[in-house]
Amino acid sequence: MFEANLFQQKIALVTGGATGIGYAIAEQLLRLGAKVYIASRKEEKLVQAVVKLQEIGPCEYQVCDIRNTESVQHLADTIKNHDGRLDILVNNAGGQFPSLAEDITEKGWNAVINNNLNGTWYVTQTMAKQFFIPQQEGAIVNIIVNIFRGFPGIAHSAAARAGVDNLTKTLAVEWSKYHIRVNAVAPGIILSSGLDNYPPEMIQGIERTIPMKRLGTVDEVAWLTLFLAGPMAAYITGETVYVDGGQRLWGNMFEL
Ligand SMILES: NC(=O)c1ccc[n+]([C@@H]2O[C@H](COP(=O)([O-])OP(=O)(O)OC[C@H]3O[C@@H](n4cnc5c(N)ncnc54)[C@H](OP(=O)(O)O)[C@@H]3O)[C@@H](O)[C@H]2O)c1
Repeated sequence: MFEANLFQQKIALVTGGATGIGYAIAEQLLRLGAKVYIASRKEEKLVQAVVKLQEIGPCEYQVCDIRNTESVQHLADTIKNHDGRLDILVNNAGGQFPSLAEDITEKGWNAVINNNLNGTWYVTQTMAKQFFIPQQEGAIVNIIVNIFRGFPGIAHSAAARAGVDNLTKTLAVEWSKYHIRVNAVAPGIILSSGLDNYPPEMIQGIERTIPMKRLGTVDEVAWLTLFLAGPMAAYITGETVYVDGGQRLWGNMFEL
């Protein structure tokens, strides 16, 4: 589908790239010639992933908590020292736990907002200031969630992702003068490690609620991400594209 050397000479950072959707994005970028950094909190998972990814292409990892600005700056410094530039940022790290809205505690609410909204912002601003703005070039893809009709069952994360959805539009406009494109990908229910955080009864039979009658794959999210990060999307910015089998348009997501 894509040219074999599409991302040759490109340096990419995929947060949360050790598992699931982020891993698939890192793998596809490597297959198309990029050098890829993956970053998340648990070193063991990063090491396991990087050993496999290095069989495909040049890949480095760094332990980083996107909620911690010092940790994020340290990641930027490492990329600067090793490669001197960054071309692509994929903000994929994130997570949430299902809960009825009335049961979400203050701590739980703040934890999810801090991870999925603030963390994404810290990484985005840091990488833009360190690389994209001085370079006058860069592509950012934010992985969010299908929030088209809200997301009953994860009010905290839906609110955070709506923030990132809106940030995508704002930054696309503000940073167009630096030739930075900012887009978002909104996956529906994807067969990925992230689903382990949901009780099986919540997921069982969920494909019936999706017009295409199946869950998405991590590769299907990765292909869209690469398209938006790459030259074929050179005139696309401020856009959120859904990869959800039509789920945003029809059907209850979860029985509450
Ligand atoms: N699977 C789905 O159906 C689905 C649908 C829509 C959207 N999404 C979103 O897509 C993204 C990837 O999901 P996935 O299914 O691949 O789940 P996943 O395997 O749980 O991936 C999330 C990744 O983010 C990292 N992470 C979480 N908090 C972090 C933090 N504070 N700092 C740095 N890294 C952090 C995790 O690693 P550590 O725990 O080691 O830090 C993990 O590698 C998530 O944002 C998820 O919410 C998933």
